[in-house]
Amino acid sequence: MQKKGVIIQGSSRSEGNTNIISKYIQEKTGFDIIDLKSKEISSFDYDFNNQGDDFIPLMKEIVDNYDVLIFATPVYWYSMSGIMKNFFDRISDCLKTEKDTGRKLRGKSMAMISCGSDSELKEGFEMPFRESANYLGMHYIGNIHTWFENELISETLKIELNTFIEKKIKTVYNNLYN
Ligand SMILES: Cc1cc2nc3c(=O)[nH]c(=O)nc-3n(C[C@H](O)[C@H](O)[C@H](O)COP(=O)(O)O)c2cc1C
Repeated sequence: MQKKGVIIQGSSRSEGNTNIISKYIQEKTGFDIIDLKSKEISSFDYDFNNQGDDFIPLMKEIVDNYDVLIFATPVYWYSMSGIMKNFFDRISDCLKTEKDTGRKLRGKSMAMISCGSDSELKEGFEMPFRESANYLGMHYIGNIHTWFENELISETLKIELNTFIEKKIKTVYNNLYN
């Protein structure tokens, strides 16, 4: 069965700037959006007393339905958002209690989109995504940084985004299914 791609949105506001970027990508790709803010996902627990929250059902939904995962995060204090980091920490559940789900991540593709107020993304921001993909046996497609000027996506950025979508995301996706 052909699986779709998904944009996993990790902003502290569901309809903020990261959502505008996520929707822009959705329009060009037809990928679904999962809003982590709308889920109940507690922080990682060594005792796994949090297994009743939304993380495991969500992760199962992701591995069973999607082959291309695009993580869309705002830049908060030079890092990914806390909501996004929480999600990554919980992937550790998939190395312990949910190994079958974790194994299904292997061979899938990951990309990352950051959204800040500054046009520059500081060195090192991308590393946790690239290395996590590597650790999980996923293919890392790459990243693009976005930012807002007067609450708008600039025309230059739109061109960069379109190129990223066409040359990176769609190339990987089409290679999977065509
Ligand atoms: C807690 C917090 C920390 C932030 N830190 C940074 C930062 O380090 N670098 C930056 O460029 N923008 C920073 N910003 C600005 C946001 O990245 C920017 O406004 C982004 O577009 C917000 O996306 P959102 O609407 O999805 O939250 C910060 C905003 C917040 C709320």
